[in-house]
Amino acid sequence: MTTEWWTSSTEATTYASLGNPLEWRVAYPALFEELAIGTRTHGPILDYGCGPGTVASYLAERYACDVVGCDISSDMIGLATRIAARPGVRFIDLADGLSEFPDEYFGAAICTFVLCVIGDREQHLSIVREIHRLLKDDAPFGIVVPHPDSTGVQFSTCRSGDSETLYAAGDPMTTRLTGNGNQLVIEDFYWPTEWYEKLLAECGFHSVRTASPHAGGGEPDSAPFLIVTGRR
Ligand SMILES: C[S@@+](CC[C@H](N)C(=O)[O-])C[C@H]1O[C@@H](n2cnc3c(N)ncnc32)[C@H](O)[C@@H]1O
Repeated sequence: MTTEWWTSSTEATTYASLGNPLEWRVAYPALFEELAIGTRTHGPILDYGCGPGTVASYLAERYACDVVGCDISSDMIGLATRIAARPGVRFIDLADGLSEFPDEYFGAAICTFVLCVIGDREQHLSIVREIHRLLKDDAPFGIVVPHPDSTGVQFSTCRSGDSETLYAAGDPMTTRLTGNGNQLVIEDFYWPTEWYEKLLAECGFHSVRTASPHAGGGEPDSAPFLIVTGRR
């Protein structure tokens, strides 16, 4: 395990190989529904911390819209460009910044499984402030993270933290991910639901709310993921 596993091309490739089955069944569809993507959104979508780019690529195809995926890891951006390119999608290395986009350029933004890999409140604030700058007035923004009330719960393909440990805000927490016969153990950070709500509100989002979809289908009776949304 490394603290910044996404800077390793081996681990970036392993992350992509997992396929994120539970996330695709539960988290992403619920997020798109919460944001009313395709029905109440207008303009390009920003996928901040897009990783291997599969979510950005799906959005462009499913909703026939332009999507920009950006990431701090040049390995992830290289991977996304190789495996997830399609018309309408651009992948941008954050080393080049997002300054080419004017204020209020995007019609919606998502940030999935990114804030949970960052252990520093100031970095959270700078990411969410930048997203706020880039969104049109009243445009929706949503994040997804492993549910902080389900630490230690073993779902079919993921487990964040250990059930015996009581975590405080910002504590490191081991996350185990599996899928397609592959496994990746990474370091996440525990942040309570209240922090994510406060983060969005502090950065200027209104109508902040949470959703905790359950998985069903034989999964434990706890919510695997937390969705927090707000409007610009
Ligand atoms: C667990 S992956 C999630 C990728 C993708 N969003 C998904 O849902 O599969 C976390 C991603 O966050 C990116 N990341 C970490 N810190 C970041 C930062 N400060 N700004 C942008 N991306 C960051 C990593 O490079 C990695 O690609």
